[in-house]
Amino acid sequence: MSHHARHIHALDKSTIRSLHSGQVIVDLVAIVKELVENALDARATAIDVKLVDRGLNSIQVKDNGHGIPEQDCLYMAKPHCTSKIASFQDIDCVTSYGFRGEALSAICAVANHVQITTRTANDSIAKQYDVDTKGSIVNAKPVNLMAGSGTLVVVESPFYNIPVRRQVAQKTALSTLKNIQDVLVKYALAHPAVRFTLMQAQSTAGTKKNTQWIKPITTDILSGIGIVFSPALADLLQSHDITESFEQMPDQSEPSIHLQCILPKIDADPTSIYRGDRVFIYVNGRPINYLKSELKDLVVMFRKRYRDVTGAVDVPVKKTPFMYMDIHVPTDEYDVNVEPSKSAIMFHNKQRLLNTFEKLLDDVYGSAMDRFFHARTLDQPPTYVGRLTKSCLG
Ligand SMILES: Nc1ncnc2c1ncn2[C@@H]1O[C@H](COP(=O)(O)OP(=O)(O)O)[C@@H](O)[C@H]1O
Ligand SMILES: [Mg+2]
Repeated sequence: MSHHARHIHALDKSTIRSLHSGQVIVDLVAIVKELVENALDARATAIDVKLVDRGLNSIQVKDNGHGIPEQDCLYMAKPHCTSKIASFQDIDCVTSYGFRGEALSAICAVANHVQITTRTANDSIAKQYDVDTKGSIVNAKPVNLMAGSGTLVVVESPFYNIPVRRQVAQKTALSTLKNIQDVLVKYALAHPAVRFTLMQAQSTAGTKKNTQWIKPITTDILSGIGIVFSPALADLLQSHDITESFEQMPDQSEPSIHLQCILPKIDADPTSIYRGDRVFIYVNGRPINYLKSELKDLVVMFRKRYRDVTGAVDVPVKKTPFMYMDIHVPTDEYDVNVEPSKSAIMFHNKQRLLNTFEKLLDDVYGSAMDRFFHARTLDQPPTYVGRLTKSCLG
């Protein structure tokens, strides 16, 4: 490192890449997230994630998606190379998770070595590519590794090139594992038709593999919740849908909002409903961090409504009962290009969304008027209130 950088000067390309890569690939969890998104974008129905030495040695993601055509492989890990959009305007109608063409390139920039094996339906055999830190192919050979189409990305020694990140990754290995699992849960719940597995190994040499977690293909989201959490929890929940159309300019087709929700039944046991922080919010299948975006208002609205309607007054105001919501709206109704991870979002018309959700809550839990009359006819609070104790809110 130079100690003489007193004058303004342009940073060299590889330095810029290392700095820039930091934005999207901040930790091991981000690597898994990006690779899983690529697998889903490739229409995979099976995604296997393997962590060697908690991901510090390597992260491997294998899918059975459509694979990468041979002529595209030269560019797959080059910065800003994507097959998903052609120009900036396209992000208004993008339905894929990725569109910036920076994940593979950023992963290569921070890892010691990346190997990508891929096969399309047209290929007779898979091809394995060794990619260097600049995203260039340094070696390619046919391998007999894949029965059908798909892609396997092996990221060896993540953050090898960024000692500080590597140290942080070592220190936070335990929470990283939990966070990776949380990320997989988010994507797995939203994709009932995709099988997900998470496997752990102590070392590359060891044959002993430890399947940490599996989400098989399920008929619907609610049964996925039953498998990922517990059948008992799924029993306390119910699916609800609402579709609202909105008037537009006469010559335009009516955009609509479709909310796909899974919410607690009104008489569900609060011990299970309030356990952990199980809030799953998506926009067109993309997991959104509600704390970082306007969607927080939806969560606050739901929290308050559920508390009011069940009389769960002992529950801390900030505690959210189980909530799953996928907001299906035309892609030009919001902007997802807000931050590098795309987990924040801005709606062009948030009030419409809030109104639609309020309507659904009225249908499910009764309106304020209903509750007013209900309260007058019932002297007794709901029976489960007595069962609610502090210890169940952990
Ligand atoms: N698992 C995969 N299956 C098929 N194609 C993939 C896969 N991973 C990456 N690709 C291809 O490589 C390109 C670059 O991926 P990435 O760097 O994540 O950028 P983005 O997803 O934003 O396009 C993608 O546009 C896609 O064409
Ligand atoms: Mg991507």
